[in-house]
Amino acid sequence: MREDFSKKLMAWYAVNKRILPWRNTTNPYKIWLSEIILQQTRVAQGTKYYLSFIENFPTVTQLANASENEVLKLWQGLGYYSRARNLHFTAKLIEKEWKGKFPNNHVDLLKLKGVGTYTAAAIASFAFNLPYPVIDGNVYRVLSRMFGIDNPINQPISNKIFSELANLLIDKKNPAEYNQAIMEFGAMQCLPANPNCNNCTFISSCFAFNQNRVKELPVKLKKTKQKARFFNFLDFQDGEKTILTKRTANDIWKGLYQFPLVESQKNSQRYQRLDHGLNNPVQQR
Ligand code: ADE
Repeated sequence: MREDFSKKLMAWYAVNKRILPWRNTTNPYKIWLSEIILQQTRVAQGTKYYLSFIENFPTVTQLANASENEVLKLWQGLGYYSRARNLHFTAKLIEKEWKGKFPNNHVDLLKLKGVGTYTAAAIASFAFNLPYPVIDGNVYRVLSRMFGIDNPINQPISNKIFSELANLLIDKKNPAEYNQAIMEFGAMQCLPANPNCNNCTFISSCFAFNQNRVKELPVKLKKTKQKARFFNFLDFQDGEKTILTKRTANDIWKGLYQFPLVESQKNSQRYQRLDHGLNNPVQQR
C-alpha cells in the first residue's frame, strides 16, 4: 500500500508539477532561503522576493556581509520582519561558525534560528536527499484524507501519528522528489475547499473520498473564542473577619474559595466603595 502511494504520487508529480526556481537546485542556501520566504507567504508572492534575494546575494557569504538595512529593504512588503532578521542572523552564523557551508544534517540544521522541524526536513531532503518527511498543512490534509486520520491536526499530540505515518510513506530512495510531490499534491489537487476528487489518481484508494468524508477531513479543533469577563470582588470586613464564599457552579475555579463576587458584563466602576463595615452595607452608586 505505501509503495503504491508514493509511486502514484510521484507519477502524478512528474506530470503536474509547477516549474519553480528553487526546485532545480540542491544548493542548501537557495533551498533555505526559499523555505524561509515561503513560511508565511504564498508561492505567487514569494517567487519574486526569492529571485531578487538570489540576484542581490547569490551566496550565503554575500547575505552575511550585507547590512541589516539592505536585507530589510529587500524584504519590504513580505511582513513578519523577524523572519528577515533571523535570516540575516543565520547567514552570519553560517559564515562564521560553519565557514560559509550549510550544515548537512538534520540535527545541526535544527539548531539554526528560524529553522524548525519542517524547514530542517525540507533542507535535509531537498539539498542532501536525506529521508526526513516534510509535514506542513498540505501534507496533514493529504494524509488525513487518504488514510482517514481524524486526529485534530492542530493538537500537538497528533504530531506523533502523522509523523510516524509520514516516515513510513516517504520514498527512501528519493526523499527530495517525494517531499516536493506530496506538498505539490496538497497545493494543487487535494485543496482545502473544492479538491479535484473526480479527476484524482487516488480516486479508488482515498479513504475520505470513498467514505464521503472529504469535507470533514482533516479535523481541526476550533479555537475557543476568548471572552473577557469582569470580576468585581467585594471585601466585607468585620474586625478580623472577612467573608469568603465557595465557588460551586460548573465554571472556572470550582470548589475554591473567594471574596464575594459580582460578575459584570463590562469593566464596571459600580463596586468600588468598599470602606463600610458589615453593619453598614455598601451602597451602590
Ligand atoms: N511551500 C513551502 N515550501 C515549498 C516548496 N518547496 N515548493 C512549493 N511550495 C512550497
